[in-house]
Amino acid sequence: MDAATADLLPHVVRLGPDLWGASFKLMKMVPAHHIVNTALETGEIGPDTVVVESTSGTYGLALAVKAALIGRRLVLVTDPAMDDRLCRRVADLGATVEMCRTPSALGEYQTVRLARLAKVRERFPDHFWPRQYDNPLNPASYSIVAEHLHRRLGAVDALIGPVGSGGSMCGTAAGLRLHHPGLRAVGVDTPGSVLFGQPDQVRELRGLGNSVLPGILDHTSFDEVHWCPAGEAYRQTRRLHRANGLFHGPTSGAAVAVARWWSARNPGVRAVVMLPDQGDRYLDTVYDDSWLDADPVRRADGEPREVNRPAGESSWTWMRWNRRRLSDVAAPPGPRP
Ligand SMILES: Cc1ncc(COP(=O)(O)O)c(C=O)c1O
Repeated sequence: MDAATADLLPHVVRLGPDLWGASFKLMKMVPAHHIVNTALETGEIGPDTVVVESTSGTYGLALAVKAALIGRRLVLVTDPAMDDRLCRRVADLGATVEMCRTPSALGEYQTVRLARLAKVRERFPDHFWPRQYDNPLNPASYSIVAEHLHRRLGAVDALIGPVGSGGSMCGTAAGLRLHHPGLRAVGVDTPGSVLFGQPDQVRELRGLGNSVLPGILDHTSFDEVHWCPAGEAYRQTRRLHRANGLFHGPTSGAAVAVARWWSARNPGVRAVVMLPDQGDRYLDTVYDDSWLDADPVRRADGEPREVNRPAGESSWTWMRWNRRRLSDVAAPPGPRP
């Protein structure tokens, strides 16, 4: 087993009387590892296959680690959210970065990246596209995380975590429900994301939320949904570092904001919160007070307000989703490009 494989599983850390954190070094290694290994087994990745993907974050890093380990070329289509440190790291691993610098008319990059990816795929006929947003192997890969949590904690009553592709929450919840069907899944999205029916808007918080609906997102997995704004996520990211010694990124902060609130209201319910990546990328932003002070949005906080439909508000709201389909709650966004 190589070092990256040994690191797939999270540390399980106690955060409160009934709350545990699943602290990952790089959560996206889980689907990257499983999807690439499966493609090697099926022959979809041959000796000269180029791996291609659209990503602005940690999935790109995970793929770059994996591609380097198996000695394949990787082309990542990305946008300015992929900061300089991350670009340098994936370049060191041998990946080629194709940067999309101009957003769509709606101010988002996801559709622009997918259009550029189509061109990259034409350029490399022998390519493998892991399709993290639509590949059922993404959620399936998290069965090992569910087993790990079950081994460490026994029955888990609630799982709380950020939702981007939906792979980690849907896959881990499904695995835990094999042991405990009553497990409650609490998804953490952010205002302006279409995932749970809000209108698409420019979002301050990255890594969770989406401008397009991933094919693998199973809305019927979720009992509750929170739309956590950036200010609260940043505040809780710093608090997690100072109070618990856990150095994570802001999607972890958003998840912990919800988890602490949720756990305080559900005493005696054993909850686990997913903490997907480390803080290094955010040293010059979330971990820098002058950066936080430069925009009041980054310091905004407040209590969550319950809503009975996706509200499209910039403040923290939550709703009882009750394992419904998106079409039972809100009009789904247009089809993926
Ligand atoms: C740092 C980080 N946290 C959370 C998520 C959400 O995970 P998932 O895509 O499994 O929903 C992502 C997704 O890209 C991420 O990069």
